[in-house]
Order: sequence, then structure tokens, then C-alpha cells
Amino acid sequence: MADAYETRLWGGRFHEDEDALMQRFNGNACETLWLMEPDIEGSLAHVAMQVRCGLLTEGEGKTLTEGLESILADWRSGAITCGPEYEDVHTFVELNLIRRVGEVGKKLHAARSRNDQVNTDMKLYVKAQLHRVAGLIDSFTATLKEVADKNPWPMPGYTHLQRAQVVTFKYYMLAYAEMMARDKQRVLNALDLMDESPLGCGALAGTTHQIDRAFTAEKLGFSHGPCKNFLDGVSDRDYVLESLSAFSILMMHLSRLSEELVLWSSAEFGFITLDDKYTTGSSIMPQKKNADGAELVRGQTGRVYGHLTALLCTMKGLPLAYNKDMQEDKLAFYDSLNVVTACLQVTERMIATLTPHPEIMRAAIKKGFINATEAADYLVRKGMPFRDAHSVVGQLVLYCEQQGKALEELSLEELKAVSPVFEEDVYPELTCDAILHRGIKQEML
Ligand code: ARG
Repeated sequence: MADAYETRLWGGRFHEDEDALMQRFNGNACETLWLMEPDIEGSLAHVAMQVRCGLLTEGEGKTLTEGLESILADWRSGAITCGPEYEDVHTFVELNLIRRVGEVGKKLHAARSRNDQVNTDMKLYVKAQLHRVAGLIDSFTATLKEVADKNPWPMPGYTHLQRAQVVTFKYYMLAYAEMMARDKQRVLNALDLMDESPLGCGALAGTTHQIDRAFTAEKLGFSHGPCKNFLDGVSDRDYVLESLSAFSILMMHLSRLSEELVLWSSAEFGFITLDDKYTTGSSIMPQKKNADGAELVRGQTGRVYGHLTALLCTMKGLPLAYNKDMQEDKLAFYDSLNVVTACLQVTERMIATLTPHPEIMRAAIKKGFINATEAADYLVRKGMPFRDAHSVVGQLVLYCEQQGKALEELSLEELKAVSPVFEEDVYPELTCDAILHRGIKQEML
């Protein structure tokens, strides 16, 4: 046990070292190197508070601060690395500090525990990343709106994936822009709710030292001050779950859009061509151009849902306060963050570079009685109750199917045979351009 403090923060009460297998199983330093900077930031705030509250002299505080800053500089330059022999990044930083500054370094951990420390670090990291994701959503939303404005082409809209009514490609893009606006708000809501500092909650019960939690909360940028309850402060992983929940809904939207891109770029639809840069070929079929970018976005959505479900399950049976199970939040968040980041970027590029085919969209409108609802609306304007108008047009559709004709191809006699209300003025109202210019539909143009 002589060298326990070389790589561990504990050991005094043990007769034996942990098994090598257990050491690997327990530690997570190498998987959470991204917590290094938030950890040092948290420690710097803690040291400043220790000086303020008399736990360290000014001189000691200066030594620790300079030591921590030198670790940060060396970490950033690559002069030091953290290996799996350290239990976690907190251990690495503290022991590294002690090696640099000597005995005084051992004062760093007074009035804190790794339990409040890790939650502080994690919140600092999550906050920064959620702001970054909000920025990515903004950029994607701007691209959706740009592509929308350039492409006001009429196209079929669907329900049940059956041709339903005419919409525009522009409006389709704007629908996804709305989803992104809500996704961004969900991220901002999570940011607001989580903005309390766990630092100073200690292991679970605060500390007998008269520390200043409001000071560290402010120094670390937690706008709602310190957590109100020590037990809750170290046990709370709601913010990770909320991030994963916001990510899951965001991914669901990206996945739906991806599904559209896969369908629209198929020969069956032909509405768009995806740029070569975001598609791939086949090793055997020379003609193939596959929408792999969109398929991977759709496919990776499941991974984010999986992380949300996994962490919900991890948390649901845990008694207060900290339990090691909670270490699982790291991978869940980090992997989901990487998926969301990549998928937002790739989807934005796919949308920015696609080529729409307005003539094919227009041809698709011609089939499928996409103007049937508007034919009924015409009858309503002539005074017929809607339910009767629906029935009249339904009968006409049946007739058209038998004749292999579209509604606008029927003669006035054929129309009048079902309802005498039809007049010559119905024909201009059945064109998609006229439909899109009527009533509130103009919003789609
Ligand atoms: N590596 C731990 C985690 O990620 C840090 C907290 C450890 N706390 C403890 N009491 N063992 O959750």
C-alpha cells in the first residue's frame, strides 16, 4: 500500500490493493479526459473560496492556483497525459498538483468531495456543450430557411404516405425549421433549470467549514446560485437526462427528415438529387448512389434513445445520495453529444447541397387527386354543405379512377352529372398554382 497515493486518493483503511481487473473496471479517467478542463476550473474556484474563507493563506492559495494553472497549460500543450492508472480525472489533477507544489497541495480537497466535484465538473461541461449545440441548431435552421426561400416549388404533401394535398418544398423545409426552433428552446430550458452549483455540497451533507457556496457558484457562472439541498446537489442527474431527452427529440426530427431525403432521392420519387459528397456507392452494383449520410443520421438516432433509456434505468433505483452507478452518465452524455453534433452538421450539409427537381414534383402533383379537397372547397363556396361536397367529389374520384382521368380532365357535363353546382369557373380553381394562392395557403409560397 506504500504507493497508494501515487495514483489514488484513498488507501489508508485498506490492507490490500484493489485487483487489477477491479482497477480497470472502476476507473474512468481515460474515457472522461474531456472533464479535465472543467475539473481544473472548478478547483481554481474552490481554491479562491478556500482563501476567502480562511481555509488557505493567501500564499497557499497562490501556490495552489499557480500549480493548477500550470497543470492546465501542460494539459493543453500535451506535455502531460493521464493514463488508466488514475481512477478518474479528479485523482489525476489532485495528485499531479501535490507532486508539483508539495505538501500544501494536500489542502486542496478540504471542504469538498469528489461527489460535489464531479457534478460541478459535469455541469460545467454540459452547459458549455449545450450552448454549442444551440449554436449548431441555429446554423442548421438558417440553412433550412435559406434553402426554403430558394425553392418555393409546388410538390405533393402526404398523409399516410399517400398523396394528399399540394404544398411547397419551401414549406416542407420551414416545417423542419419549426421543429429546430422547439429543439433549441428545449436545450435552453434544460440550461436554465440546471444552472445551480453543486460545489460545497460535499459528499452528501455539506461541510463543517464555514465555506461560501454563493461565491464559487458565481465564480463558475451558475446563474441560480448554489444547489439548495446538499443531498439533492450531489444526487441530481436530471440535467443529463434532460439533455438526453432534448437530444432524443432533436434526433427524432433529424431522423424524420433523413427518411424524407432517402425517399425523395429514390427513383420512385425523384424529387431531389443528393450531392455526391454526402452519398456513397456500392461495391458490386456500379449504378448505385446511396443516401448513406441520411441513413446514418436515421440509424444513430437509436443510439441516443438508448443512452436516455439506459440512464433513466440507471437512476431509477438509486437511494440518495451518490452511488457509483452514476458514473454511467458520462458515456451516455458524451456519446450522445457526439452523435447530435455530427448529425446536425451532416444534415445541414445535405440540405444545403441537395438539388430539387421542381418538374418532377410538379408531375407528381398531377396524379393522386391532390386537388380533391379544393374541388370540395369550390362547391362549399357555391353554397353546398361541406359533407355533401365531400361526397360529390368522392364520387367523381371513383368515376375518374374508372376512366383513368384526373379531376381537371373531366368535361363540365361529366362534372354536372354528379352535381349541377359545377360551372366552367371550377377549372382554374383546380390548378395547383391557383390553389396555393387561395386563402391561408399563400403562407406556403
Ligand atoms: N468517477 C466518478 C464519477 O464519474 C467520480 C466521483 C467518484 N466519487 C466517489 N465517491 N467514488 O462519478
